[in-house]
Amino acid sequence: MKVQKSPSMADPLTKFAYLGLQGGKSLMGLAHKEVSTRLLQWVAPSSAPVTMPVPPEMLKELRVAMERLLEQDWQEAEAGLYPPSLLFDAPWLDWATRYPLVWLDMPLTWNRRARRQVRDLPQDVEPEAFPDYYLQNFHHQTDGYLSDHSASLYDLQVEILFNGAADPMRRRLLNPLVKGLAAFAARPASSLRVLDIAAGTGRTLRQIRGALPQGHLVGLDLSAAYLRQANTWLSQLPGELPQLVQGNAEAMPFAEASMQAATCVFLMHELPAAARANVLLEAFRVLEPGGVFVLADSVQLADSPQYTVAMENFRRVFHEPYYRDYISDDIGARLRQSGFVDITAETHFMSRVWAARKPL
Ligand SMILES: C[S@@+](CC[C@H](N)C(=O)[O-])C[C@H]1O[C@@H](n2cnc3c(N)ncnc32)[C@H](O)[C@@H]1O
Repeated sequence: MKVQKSPSMADPLTKFAYLGLQGGKSLMGLAHKEVSTRLLQWVAPSSAPVTMPVPPEMLKELRVAMERLLEQDWQEAEAGLYPPSLLFDAPWLDWATRYPLVWLDMPLTWNRRARRQVRDLPQDVEPEAFPDYYLQNFHHQTDGYLSDHSASLYDLQVEILFNGAADPMRRRLLNPLVKGLAAFAARPASSLRVLDIAAGTGRTLRQIRGALPQGHLVGLDLSAAYLRQANTWLSQLPGELPQLVQGNAEAMPFAEASMQAATCVFLMHELPAAARANVLLEAFRVLEPGGVFVLADSVQLADSPQYTVAMENFRRVFHEPYYRDYISDDIGARLRQSGFVDITAETHFMSRVWAARKPL
């Protein structure tokens, strides 16, 4: 796959603007969390989660890791892996109008956490249409993944959670993805099918579109509401509209060997171990031999023991029923057991990115 070098990227002003923007996002994320935590402690102290004190060394390490992530993000854009405009890609006006809704939603979240209510879902949800583990309020989120309201707030909530680093982390899958697709370089780019498993609101597909403007992109997710939101965002992009399909990643509605690449971002930690194994087997099945699979999720205890407190606090603050099991799971071994070869793994800030290939 050919990577286009963008001449404008040598511009130090653009880099300055990018780092300034990320600095602003980071400050906003930190300020939001600080104010909301204080407010909770003031109005409903019994709902406040008990977290572990954060060691100053860990904060320092996180700051350095964030700087490294942003530098790499810039470098890869400069090298032409994706266009510089992707570094600035965010629906600012839309997020600004939705931000008050995040605050309005917060008391409901606190209330759910205080009452340990984790299956508070919309009345019209048909439970038999979903696996049992899915029918929960992940992150204590109103309606779980099962409403347009939830889908409309998700991107902004993730942006706040990661202090603006969510997309830079998602973009770390682009390099292994494009490298992996080089195995099919003899074919027209438009014939290459790339599947994003658990596509959610389409943020990862948006990044992939930046690196693969001609690829045939497919997104799969269990939530019709999240796919509707993805369709709204993705239909604003030029080029072919990604195909969005509702379905379970444990039994994907795609033929064997029908994809040349597959990606999966922030899904593994929300699945019980057996479902994790099923998804990896399915990813293997739908890939054509020689195809590449890139998986990104939270760091784990084995690769990032210095962030143990951050991982523990994440689990205490948000409803993440499978996170504890995930952070000690051996994903490399699971990929091998599923049949993958050439497995590599890298850590980027709070994310771990695995790349693997289906053997010929
Ligand atoms: C944390 S979100 C990640 C979304 C997206 N990949 C991103 O980067 O923002 C998890 C997503 O996984 C989807 N999901 C969870 N279990 C699933 C399953 N078994 N099959 C398909 N999608 C699933 C949810 O609906 C949700 O959209």
